[in-house]
Order: sequence, then structure tokens, then C-alpha cells
Amino acid sequence: MHVNFVPFLAPLVVLASLANAQLQLFCPDAVRLGTFTFSPKTVNPGATFTIVANMTCANYLGYTPKYLDYYIEDTTNNNGHEYPTLIARRTYNQSADPPLDIFTAVLPSGFWFVGAEYQLYMYNSYERTAPAGDTVTLVGAVAQSINITGY
Ligand SMILES: *[C@@H]1O[C@H](CO)[C@@H](O)[C@H](O)[C@H]1NC(C)=O
Ligand SMILES: *[C@@H]1O[C@H](CO)[C@@H](O)[C@H](O)[C@H]1NC(C)=O
Ligand SMILES: *[C@@H]1O[C@H](CO)[C@@H](O)[C@H](O)[C@H]1NC(C)=O
Repeated sequence: MHVNFVPFLAPLVVLASLANAQLQLFCPDAVRLGTFTFSPKTVNPGATFTIVANMTCANYLGYTPKYLDYYIEDTTNNNGHEYPTLIARRTYNQSADPPLDIFTAVLPSGFWFVGAEYQLYMYNSYERTAPAGDTVTLVGAVAQSINITGY
């Protein structure tokens, strides 16, 4: 009985680890904070653009956001007086199915500088239970280039 049990179990273990490997590939650690796309990629002050945040992998990897905050930042040629500009602060609907947050933002007239290379950052604020048992909110960000023109 014990001898037969092992051959039956072995294929199940192989299948389970295969499925696990595929899911890992599907949601690599790099996308743990979620992903987003936006369009158009070139925006003038006052113009609107649409952001689509996708929390499929964030949920799967345990980084379901409480908030999603969007900022435009110049991290390349910052002249020391260019501060992150808040574009949108979103309370994430943790029941959203599919786990997407789609909305339209307006690019403020703002303080835009020639020669800057702007990035649109998405900050994911997620909760963790601290060792002492209290809940803390941690934050991480992902970014993509945005082309700001016409100022
Ligand atoms: C959201 O991300 C998941 C995982 O990468 C992907 O399968 C799905 O197609 C994405 N949904 C949209 C609307 O982009
Ligand atoms: C959150 O998403 C669920 C599922 O789609 C929906 O029923 C609910 O109304 C949403 N809540 C808010 C506040 O939008
Ligand atoms: C940014 O927009 C300008 C004006 O539309 C365009 O000429 C330029 O190619 C764009 N740059 C990038 C990196 O998309």
C-alpha cells in the first residue's frame, strides 16, 4: 500500500510545481505593485489622458493597494526646483472584478521645464501587519515615460 502511494502522488507533485512555475512567470516579482498603461503618451497642459491600472498581479502576489496615487516627476534632469506633481489620488476598490481602475486625468498647467524627461509614477500603498500586530501602510512605485509638450 505504502509502495503504491508514491507513484500515484509523484505526477500530482510534478503538475503542481509546473502550474506554480507558470503562475510565477505570469506574475513576476517586478509587477508585484501592479501595472498601468495610459494614453495618449504625449499630453499638453490642460489635456486629458486615460489611465488603466491593472492589479491582477498585485492581488495575486499580496500587494492589493489601499490607495493608488499618481505623480509626474522629473528624475533625470531635475533642476532642484521641480517637485513631484500630483495627478490623481485614488482609493482602490479591492472588490473590483476585473481588478482594474480606469479613469481620466487632466494634466495641470503646472511647472514644466524644457529639457526635463518626465515620468508618470504610480504609487501603490498597501497594508502589512507589523511584528507588534498593528497595521502599517507601506508604499512602492512603478513609472513610465510621459511626453509633456505645448507649454
Ligand atoms: C491585467 O494583467 C493580467 C496579468 O498580466 C493580464 O492577464 C490581463 O490581460 C490584464 N488586463 C488588462 C485589461 O490589461
Ligand atoms: C467595487 O467593485 C464591486 C465589484 O465590481 C462593485 O460591486 C462595487 O460597487 C464597487 N464599489 C465601489 C465603491 O465602486
Ligand atoms: C513628444 O511629443 C512631440 C510633439 O508631439 C514629438 O515631436 C516627440 O517625438 C515626442 N517625443 C516622444 C519621446 O514621444
